[in-house]
Amino acid sequence: MEPLGYIVHGGDYNPDQWIDTPEIWDEDMRLMKEAGINSATVGIFAWSLIEPEEGVYDFSFLDTILDKMHKNGIKAILATPSGARPPWLSQKYPEVLRVEETGIRNEFGVRHNHCLTSPVYREKVQNINRLLAERYKDHPALMMWHISNEYSGECHCEKCQKAFREWLKKEYHNDLNELNFKWWNGFWSHRVTDWEQISSPKFRGENHVSALKLCWNRFVSDSHISFFENEIKPLREITPDIPITTNMMGTYNGIDYQKLAKKLDIVSYDSYPPFDAEDPLEVAKSWTFIYDIYRSMGGNKPFFLMESSPSLVNWRDVNKLLMPGRHAQSSMLAVSHGADSVQYFQWRKSRGGHEKFHGAVVDHIGTNETRVFREVAKLGEQLKKLGEVTGGKCESRVAVICDWENSWATTHFHGYNNLRRDYFDECQKWHLPFSLRGIPCDVISETDDYSSYDLIIAPFMYMLKTNVEEKIRSFVKNGGSFVATYLFAVADKDDMVYYGGLPANGLKEVFGIWAEESDGIPEGREGTAEYNSKEYKTQHICDVIHSKGAEVLGTYTSDFYAGEPSVTRNSYGKGKAYYAAFRNDEDFADDFCSDLIKELCIKPSTDIIFPRDIIIRKRGELIFILNFTDEEKAVTLDKTYYDILSETDVTGILPIPENGYCILKQKEILK
Ligand code: GLA
Ligand code: ZN
Repeated sequence: MEPLGYIVHGGDYNPDQWIDTPEIWDEDMRLMKEAGINSATVGIFAWSLIEPEEGVYDFSFLDTILDKMHKNGIKAILATPSGARPPWLSQKYPEVLRVEETGIRNEFGVRHNHCLTSPVYREKVQNINRLLAERYKDHPALMMWHISNEYSGECHCEKCQKAFREWLKKEYHNDLNELNFKWWNGFWSHRVTDWEQISSPKFRGENHVSALKLCWNRFVSDSHISFFENEIKPLREITPDIPITTNMMGTYNGIDYQKLAKKLDIVSYDSYPPFDAEDPLEVAKSWTFIYDIYRSMGGNKPFFLMESSPSLVNWRDVNKLLMPGRHAQSSMLAVSHGADSVQYFQWRKSRGGHEKFHGAVVDHIGTNETRVFREVAKLGEQLKKLGEVTGGKCESRVAVICDWENSWATTHFHGYNNLRRDYFDECQKWHLPFSLRGIPCDVISETDDYSSYDLIIAPFMYMLKTNVEEKIRSFVKNGGSFVATYLFAVADKDDMVYYGGLPANGLKEVFGIWAEESDGIPEGREGTAEYNSKEYKTQHICDVIHSKGAEVLGTYTSDFYAGEPSVTRNSYGKGKAYYAAFRNDEDFADDFCSDLIKELCIKPSTDIIFPRDIIIRKRGELIFILNFTDEEKAVTLDKTYYDILSETDVTGILPIPENGYCILKQKEILK
């Protein structure tokens, strides 16, 4: 997608709730302009209004809204309505309703709740999407398509079971012997002799075959993707120049987001960080990881912050208001990490229904006189000054591998420590040392391109997919540094353990080690390992490894494997392969990465000196400095900068207010 040149400021706009009081729509337009809103996402929940009965259409409401938006200079992100169905549809075609794992078909209600396979549902969705595209293809407000809403969940109906079996036939070349072998079905006498003997994993049925579970994950994910492809078919045909996105949810792993992202023109994310309910700095640190995932997922491109709350949400057990200024700061954190938009759920608070106490820009009072409205308007003014960052890339020399399929695989296998898998937390732990030092770090999948990096870290990369061994080998051979941790390259894509010793195949040579055994460490019985004269706890899982040529950088200092290596480095070709054999939740990743950063001369993206609890991020020519603590902090500027928000020059020691931020630009590159 071409850079827009301005930050999109908008959000979910559901004026269909006020169909009986349309004068509110004019007030919306007036208030939107006052709040610096330049876009609105419409139609997400409008299906029952635009098709009140099967085949009976009334687009007058959307016509009016889109015209009003255009007249007021507000662009439309037009949603396809498949996330929420009108009741007539499931009344007439019960097959569209989702079947739970229990085998019981749901009744009408809530959202999503649809079968992913149902031909009727797919047809109905494509039909309404086609009508929307035909009607609005030339509408001057139309800016982007927002496909459905937060795809999620799975369906276990007979149609989905049949589709699953077809999927399996393709995967295993229509050969049950191959499937039996790959699923290791000889064990427990599970050899299948008819495809009909296979169904989705269920609590009351087959749920101990990890390969089945992996296949089911992939099938469900592919079903969402094919549902998406069915949705966008008419849109690509009729509006080929209008970009397409769908909104995703953090590290939700019911769909392989890294695969879905490749089908989108721009990736988008609904972001609800629990600021103020938890330690804000810790929340901000975790969110730097999530934003880096979203930036990387689209191929190191900007993403859209599709939803956020300007105040609170309604779906946590306890919903804390964001303190004054926090929403703007939180939005700037997203922009600094690659968001080209700041958008809300939702523009105006519902009067009734499930989400009436969820934060919105316009509260029930209906005016601009609220704290939240004023804050949004102020942020709108600030965002206008940041247009130049849109479209900008961020060049990272470092990447952490965080792979959706590995998140499945590391959940499914039984063994070692069945309580502590924490795949995404592990990945985040290894991203943080870079983020905290202002060093850009991508978050990529195992199969993404490695060629632009000097350093790749692969935490808990249990599943080694086909051809990835060769990728790692040539990355290191050509001068890259690759860090693997415990339980690395253990199993293939079907969760079959690689024979011949671990890590798999030739990786033993690349890493210069052999991982003979792995240990599950119970809580309270942590051991110790030494690295660089400092002692660390070994927690949850560790490998007992032997050097086969690698240099030993640290050893275990407890248990019967005391004296065996815990951290190794092997020179291979022009590069180096590191193995960190134990998990540690405290300082180890940070200390280890700090050494790597020095060794590889990896520099932060600015020369500004800042304390560890400040988050600093350069995007394009702008430097965002964010303070998520309750104390004023000072950074030391290496030269004179222009402060974009206060419109003054700054030099020397620059105070960053508590819970505040500054955005700077180098004087000499001021346009
Ligand atoms: C999600 C949905 C929205 C809304 C918000 C509430 O992001 O997409 O429709 O329900 O949650 O936080
Ligand atoms: Zn189904």
